[in-house]
Amino acid sequence: MAEFSLPKNSKVETGRHWPAPNAKNKRVFKIYRWNPEDGRNPTLDTYELDLDSCGPMVLDALIKIKNEIDPTLTFRRSCREGICGSCAMNIGGTNTLACVRAIEDVPGKDIAIYPLPHMEVVKDLVPDLTHFYAQYASIKPWLRTQSPAPSDRERLQSPADRDKLDGLYECILCACCSTSCPSYWWNGDRYLGPAILLQSYRWIIDSRDEDTGARLDDLEDPFKLYRCHTIMNCARTCPKGLNPAKAIGEIKKLMLERQI
Ligand code: SF4
Ligand code: SF4
Ligand code: FES
Repeated sequence: MAEFSLPKNSKVETGRHWPAPNAKNKRVFKIYRWNPEDGRNPTLDTYELDLDSCGPMVLDALIKIKNEIDPTLTFRRSCREGICGSCAMNIGGTNTLACVRAIEDVPGKDIAIYPLPHMEVVKDLVPDLTHFYAQYASIKPWLRTQSPAPSDRERLQSPADRDKLDGLYECILCACCSTSCPSYWWNGDRYLGPAILLQSYRWIIDSRDEDTGARLDDLEDPFKLYRCHTIMNCARTCPKGLNPAKAIGEIKKLMLERQI
């Protein structure tokens, strides 16, 4: 389980309570609410739901609350099947995707839901990912080549080279890992964090990319890469079952090999 840390806008007070006195199969959701425009401190609002009339996933509960109880509740979602990464949040102390997290699998009596930890909050469960996306852009996440492209076909790679991308290409940039990483919490202005470093490694080991040396040069910096202390929160929390810490270790190995 990822260590829990409050979002940056975090002096949380007890908020409103919506009871469901007639619910036969009741579960209580305690949800972080903050609207920068109303000038008040964040609150933890309580919503009671009857699970007999709710879908099975945490995202179903959030949608039900928004549709039937409190239309002001704000969160991101799109695909509802663990592909877009937009519903990433902290549920029951773990960073995960609300659309693939079953309500019945969340331990404890009440379900606490916060935005991704240690990020600025735009509103309620929506973190500000501007810096995260800027860091992603900084690694130039596309195929970089100098040789002319073949005129009659794509740039090919062998099945073995393609296999090297397994465990990397599946990353949906949800930021669950980076926002569970203590090194990223404290040095996120300069440390790239597990998500971006996993993406970086995805291009470094792509057999078709011709800028490996420049990519490694860009990471040769006391902060961008070397702030990873192998705490492993990232691998524990990734909702896609990926291991960013391993990718970071592979980059460090490549750095060493080229010095020998
Ligand atoms: S590695 Fe996993 S947790 Fe991190 S951004 Fe990618 S999918 Fe999300
Ligand atoms: S292994 Fe590295 S990247 Fe992953 S949580 Fe720990 S310090 Fe962060
Ligand atoms: S809504 Fe797309 S990953 Fe959850």
